[in-house]
Amino acid sequence: MINIRKLIYPWRYLFLSLCCLLLITACNTLAPNTQSDNKSLKVATDPTFIPFEFQTPQGELVGFEIDLMRAIAQAVGLTVNFESLPFDGMISTLQAKRVDAAISGITITKERLKTIAFSRPYFKAGLAITVREDNQDIKDFNSLQEKKIGVQIGSTGADFAKTIPNAKIITYNSGPDFFQDLHNGNIDAVISDAFATLYAVKNGNLKGLKVVADLLTEEYYGIATPQNSPHLDAINKGIDIVLSNGTYKQIYQKWFNVEPSQLPVELPLK
Ligand code: ARG
Repeated sequence: MINIRKLIYPWRYLFLSLCCLLLITACNTLAPNTQSDNKSLKVATDPTFIPFEFQTPQGELVGFEIDLMRAIAQAVGLTVNFESLPFDGMISTLQAKRVDAAISGITITKERLKTIAFSRPYFKAGLAITVREDNQDIKDFNSLQEKKIGVQIGSTGADFAKTIPNAKIITYNSGPDFFQDLHNGNIDAVISDAFATLYAVKNGNLKGLKVVADLLTEEYYGIATPQNSPHLDAINKGIDIVLSNGTYKQIYQKWFNVEPSQLPVELPLK
């Protein structure tokens, strides 16, 4: 005699599998603009880097690089989903491909190019020394010897500080904290990105501090991606478009009130 139950059970699984498949297909067709599709980029940023990226008291993410990233993506038909990450974790997150890109005043360096990729440069930057307003003796690289210097972990400022003879380097997780310590007299100087610091000093966010006029380095920021990223070409194309159609200049002037610097297409780094 044929056992009906035994006969039906295998078909039941097939039926169930077909239903699941149908459901998945339907979901994908009805909601094409979700995270996993290639129309939207997941972009990491560290929103403690005024005015490049920061949060308003209402919690809204704003800044030069927020506007710029959105404009670049829009120019090539993409949208952006920002994800906040500490600066120090950005490179490993990119290496693990947990985000599509990162924009956070990230300097293009030879060392970093060994593990991640960068777009063409979109911002001319450089390191500067910040001291208390009444400081008279720290004026240049040589006067930093044997001083207590604050830097952000994992930054180009931290790398630079290592080259100063007999300096005592104090590292900080977040940029703004070292300025507080400098103000309190716990450290003698900070080495960090000049543009961001000048902005903060000018806009009264940093009281009692001054930036030493001469820059220590010339650096360029790039949008970082994992190596062999499928999005890098589109990002570069987006930068080309916003540079040539005036959008870049408009965003630059909105945040910095000055003409943007000339940018090279490529850096002589590799
Ligand atoms: N330009 C420096 C670097 O690449 C520091 C950038 C700091 N950025 C930030 N979002 N805190 O190392």
